Amino acid sequence: MNFAGKVVFVAGGTSGINFGVAEAFALAGAKVAVLSRSPEKVEAAVAALRQHGAEACGHAADVRQYEAVAAAMADTAARWGAIDVLVSGAAGNFVAPAQQLSANGFKTVIDIDLQGCFNVMRAAFAHLRKPGAAVVNISAPQSWLPTPGQIHVCAAKAGIDQITRTAAMEWGPLGIRVNSIAPGPIADTEGMRRLAPTPESERSWREAVPLRRWGAKQEIAKAVQWLCSEDAAYVTGVLLPVDGGWSLGGSSAMVQALGA
Ligand code: NAP
Ligand code: COA
Repeated sequence: MNFAGKVVFVAGGTSGINFGVAEAFALAGAKVAVLSRSPEKVEAAVAALRQHGAEACGHAADVRQYEAVAAAMADTAARWGAIDVLVSGAAGNFVAPAQQLSANGFKTVIDIDLQGCFNVMRAAFAHLRKPGAAVVNISAPQSWLPTPGQIHVCAAKAGIDQITRTAAMEWGPLGIRVNSIAPGPIADTEGMRRLAPTPESERSWREAVPLRRWGAKQEIAKAVQWLCSEDAAYVTGVLLPVDGGWSLGGSSAMVQALGA
């Protein structure tokens, strides 16, 4: 993929899947801006992106703080011009059954994932290239699969997907495409460290994936890049699972009966 000279902004782009996305765009020639709360993570991510020879900049900000996000967008556009690619992936997750989750625990994840995604898109809007920009929101299969211990994440990610579809309709006439990606279990990420903390739970997650393995961060990055490329010029408002078939569900008992 060639994104030479393109301006890419990755919210939550300093670690894990989102950093993998930032890195892939840097390697494809883009100028890459990242944003997250920790100044140390921002500094390290920018240094790593520059090591790839890319122009990179970073902003220490919380997606829950609209003004801080807006300032980061304005700074990026002042530095490099209109934003071609916006990836919104800042998120928080922990496992908690509904009856043990405090009101503030639920609100915290809604505020980071859902309100944060709106803040990022809303603050970016003035600076998005029109026509031509592509937005990708990082969702999760929890958005349509009810998942015990994840009531907060299910609600937040479902909201993100409706933001994606609604913005695709509103911004389509301006030449801005808006899509979501739902990664399955991705190796070496904070998300999976929290969801599958033991070797046993790791194995049972793997066995629930039809392709029988966890995905790699680069596999999510490639899908994001495809959605942002000319090859996907007629694709907007979709939610693309990139999950080895994990979210197909189906009857794992029957798969076991087949000895697969
Ligand atoms: P991660 O490494 O913890 O990534 C989260 C990123 O968001 C970090 O850069 C974090 O940096 C930033 N962040 C968190 N809260 C923030 C806030 N309030 N304001 C600004 N930035 C914030 O986790 P990951 O597992 O790679 O997950 C990345 C994305 O993929 C998330 O959207 C997640 O829901 C999605 N996902 C992951 C998986 C998986 O297998 N891991 C599966 C499906 C979906 P700071 O700490 O510096 O803020
Ligand atoms: N179980 C139940 N409740 C929890 C919890 C857990 N494991 N972790 C946090 N909470 C609750 C807190 O108790 C608090 O509620 P309270 O005031 O009623 O006690 C609320 O959530 C906010 O916690 P706080 O630690 O103040 O939030 P924060 O804004 O500093 O951090 C988190 C946000 C909790 C999501 C934190 O885990 C985080 O920063 N995560 C980012 C990394 C990540 O989750 N990566 C995976 C992405 S998929």
